[in-house]
Amino acid sequence: MTSPVRLALLGCGTVGSDVVRLLHEQSADLAARIGAPLEIAGIAVRRVGRDRGDLPVDPALFTTDPLGLIKRDDVHVVVEVVGGIEPARGWLVEALRAGKSVVTANKALLAEDGATLHDAAAEGGADLYYEASVAGAIPLLRPLRESLHGDRINRVTGIINGTTNFILSAMDATGAGFAEALEEATALGYAEADPTADVEGFDAAAKAAILASLAFHTRVTAADVHREGITEVTAADVASAKAMGCTIKLLCIAARNTDAAGRESVGVRVHPAMIPLTHPLASVGDAFNAVFVEAEAAGQLMFYGRGAGGAPTASAVLGDVVAVARNRIAGVHAASESAYADLAVRPMGEALTRYHISLDVADRPGVLEAVAGVFARHEVSIATVRQGPAGGGPAGRGSDAELVIVTHVAPDAALAATVRALRGLEIVRSVTSVLRVEGGL
Ligand code: NDP
Ligand code: HSE
Repeated sequence: MTSPVRLALLGCGTVGSDVVRLLHEQSADLAARIGAPLEIAGIAVRRVGRDRGDLPVDPALFTTDPLGLIKRDDVHVVVEVVGGIEPARGWLVEALRAGKSVVTANKALLAEDGATLHDAAAEGGADLYYEASVAGAIPLLRPLRESLHGDRINRVTGIINGTTNFILSAMDATGAGFAEALEEATALGYAEADPTADVEGFDAAAKAAILASLAFHTRVTAADVHREGITEVTAADVASAKAMGCTIKLLCIAARNTDAAGRESVGVRVHPAMIPLTHPLASVGDAFNAVFVEAEAAGQLMFYGRGAGGAPTASAVLGDVVAVARNRIAGVHAASESAYADLAVRPMGEALTRYHISLDVADRPGVLEAVAGVFARHEVSIATVRQGPAGGGPAGRGSDAELVIVTHVAPDAALAATVRALRGLEIVRSVTSVLRVEGGL
């Protein structure tokens, strides 16, 4: 055994307190795996006097001075589970430049400005590990940044937000509307008091940027990700999906594209979409996460598990702590960020997708022809059309009909322009639902 590897723990909330618990419960095993014991040198929090229950830790370790803790000579590794952009960025840059390896779960910071952290790690010769930042307990980033480095990833499709997956799964199971399902998610502790980051897709967009950066060897930030949340998904949309043998999921899709001239780019988007029940992601229910990776040689891979919660996230944090502690003892650090491909990020309008569109229309001769003409003018090919009695529009209109149209694959800009033009037709009473369709049908 060599001398202890000493950790500065920044944050002791949901994740941090489980990091402390696991460090305590597994100290002997962790020491054996690393070849040196792990010790907590200090824990930076906002409120030293906060009641932390029966946390197995010396209260004297708590401090409100994270920077002072990081700078101490007896601190070797910094574990950041506070979150947010500042002051976390300043702390981590300070640590990395000083050669102290960092383990962080901070997806918001990595997605907004991962470049600054990677540059600081390269400057200081330190490790920067962040497995917990995407999909909690699921070992996903290490496979992308190590195991699949001999392959070429073409597409990553994932359910990477547990709160929205819980809500959509509840809407699917019970027929509830969004507001009712959100209420249930809040009552059960899945949704936070302010659910905006989850339901508007910000959390998933941050994770999508991190995944895309690793999968495509390109710096992708949250600002590059096209983002739509689930607040507009209605019970009628869910029923429509069911009628088509589909379910609705909030998907993250990061895909490589090669244009006619052979130029490669990557598109990254987060939005609700219908997927067929036969797709592997369709059966991912409750608050679980899953990521489906398509690689040239490996083929299709699926990663599944708990994407959030104290203990699952702490499991990923500790896996990283073991890795950086071992590196420290061996006197090495991991390969730095791989961003050599530097692919252009494609705008959403160029993404190739399919639309499912429900319209309330006047039920009279020539309507179908007029509607089909709009699709044709935008070079969007129709795959299927179904007509039934009007359901989605205002009651009492008399002779209306519902048209449900599913397109073939087309650029998103052409599909969106088609919907705008349909809204302008006199015979279209209302466009009651527009959803993208992914995953083959
Ligand atoms: P919490 O809000 O539960 O805990 C935050 C901790 O940071 C608290 O201990 C708080 O102190 C401390 N803190 C806040 N501000 C400061 C500050 N200025 N200086 C020092 N300490 C501060 O967050 P979580 O544990 O839920 O999340 C932590 C990180 O993990 C975030 O980046 C989050 O995105 C990420 N993550 C979380 C998951 C989850 O399931 N919760 C899943 C995956 C990632 P005090 O205790 O005194 O309030
Ligand atoms: N709020 C996130 C989710 C958990 O619902 O998945 C942290 O990543």
